[in-house]
Amino acid sequence: MHSISLAAEAGYAVPPLWRILTKSGYFIGLSGAIGATVTYAASIRPALRAPENNSDDVAVMRRRTAGYLAWAGVVLLVAGYFQLAARLARAGKGMPFGDALAPGRIWDFLLAPAAKGAWIAQGTIYLVQNVVLVLASAALISLFFGRARRRLNALALTALPLTLAITLVAAVPATKPKDAEKWLDLLFTQTHIVSGVVWVGGLVLLATLAAARGRLSEDAGALWADLWRRFAFIALVCVGAVFTSGLWMSWKHVGSISQLWTTTYGLFLLVKILLVLGMVTAGGVNQFWLMPRIARARRDDATSSLLHLTLRHFPKVVWAEVALGIAVLAIVPFLSGSARSEAGSPPAVSSGSVFATGAVLVLTLAASLYITVRASDALARRTTAATS
Ligand code: HEM
Repeated sequence: MHSISLAAEAGYAVPPLWRILTKSGYFIGLSGAIGATVTYAASIRPALRAPENNSDDVAVMRRRTAGYLAWAGVVLLVAGYFQLAARLARAGKGMPFGDALAPGRIWDFLLAPAAKGAWIAQGTIYLVQNVVLVLASAALISLFFGRARRRLNALALTALPLTLAITLVAAVPATKPKDAEKWLDLLFTQTHIVSGVVWVGGLVLLATLAAARGRLSEDAGALWADLWRRFAFIALVCVGAVFTSGLWMSWKHVGSISQLWTTTYGLFLLVKILLVLGMVTAGGVNQFWLMPRIARARRDDATSSLLHLTLRHFPKVVWAEVALGIAVLAIVPFLSGSARSEAGSPPAVSSGSVFATGAVLVLTLAASLYITVRASDALARRTTAATS
C-alpha cells in the first residue's frame, strides 16, 4: 500500500511526429539490414548450395538478393541519420528536431565530453555505433555494382555482424548499471529487437524474392520448399525469443492485466500483441496447411504443384504477415511512458515468485512451439503416407 501511494499517476503523452517516424524508421532500417543478412546466411545461402538446383535459378536468386541487400543498405543509412538527429533532439534540454538535423550540431553531440560518473562519453558510444552503421551500409550498398555482386557471400557475411553491432553497441551503458535487473533489461531489450527484426525483415525479404517467380524455372519449387523450411525454423526461434523478452518488458511496464485496456500504453501494447498473434496464426497456416502439402508434392515429384504451393500460396500468406509486421513496427514508438505510471502502480520489483511465474510461462511457450514442430512433421508424414 505504502509504495502504491508513493507512485504518482502520469498521463499518457503522445510522442511528437518526428519521434514516431524516426523510431519506426530506425527499426524498419534494422529489419531490412539485420533481417535480410541473417535470412541470407541461415536460409537462402544454404538452400542455393544444393547441387540439384538449376544454375539459372541460382543466378536469378543471387542477383535479386544482392539488389535487395543494396537497397537495405540505403534505407539503413537514411534511417540511421534521422535516428541520430532524433537522439540529439532528445538529449539534455533537447532542441527542435529541424535544428538537430544539422551535421555540425550532430558532430558536436558525438564529441561531447563524458558526463560525471560515466566511464565513457555517451556521444562516443553513438559515434562508434554510427561508424559501424556506415560500414554496414557501405558493404551492402556496394552490392549495386556488378563486380561486388560476384562477392555477394563475402559482403553479406561481413555486413551481418556489423548490422547486429549497430543495435548492440548503442545499448552499451555509459554508466555502470545499478543492479542485476538493469542488466536483464539490457539483455532482454536486445534479444527483443534482434529477434523481432530478424523475423519481420526475413519475411519481407522472402516475400520480395518470391515476386521474381516469373524469371524462375519450373524446377524452382524444390529450391523454394527448402528455403521456406529453413526460414520456418528461424521464425520459430524468433517467436520464442520475441515472446520471452516481450513478456519481461511487458511486466516491467504493465502492473496488471486490466491495465492493458485501462491505460493508453496498455492499449497500444494490447493491439501490438494482437497483431503479433495474427502473424503467428498466419505462420501456423503455412506450417500446418502448406508445409505438409509441400512435403507431399516434393516426395511425389509433382513439380508444377510444388511450384504453385511454394511460390504462389506461400508468399500470399507471407505478405499478410509482412503487413502485420510493419504495423507492429509502426506501433512501437507509441509505447512510450508506461502503463504502471499511468495507473499509479508501483514500479516492477522482481522476486523469486516473479521469476518462477516467468519460467513457467516460457516453458509453456517452448513446449507449445515444440509441439507445433512435431505436429507439423507428423502431418507431413501422414499426408504422404495417405497418398502413397
Ligand atoms: C513481430 C514481433 C515484435 C516486434 C518486431 C517487436 C519490436 C519491438 C521493438 C523494436 C521495440 C522497441 C525496443 C526499444 O525501444 O528499445 C519493442 C518494444 C516492446 N515490445 Fe515488442 N515486438 C514484437 C513483439 C512483442 C510481443 C509479442 C510483446 C509482448 C508479449 C512485446 C512487448 C514489447 C514491450 C512491452 C516493449 C517495450 C516498450 C517500451 O520500452 O515501453 N513485443 N518491440
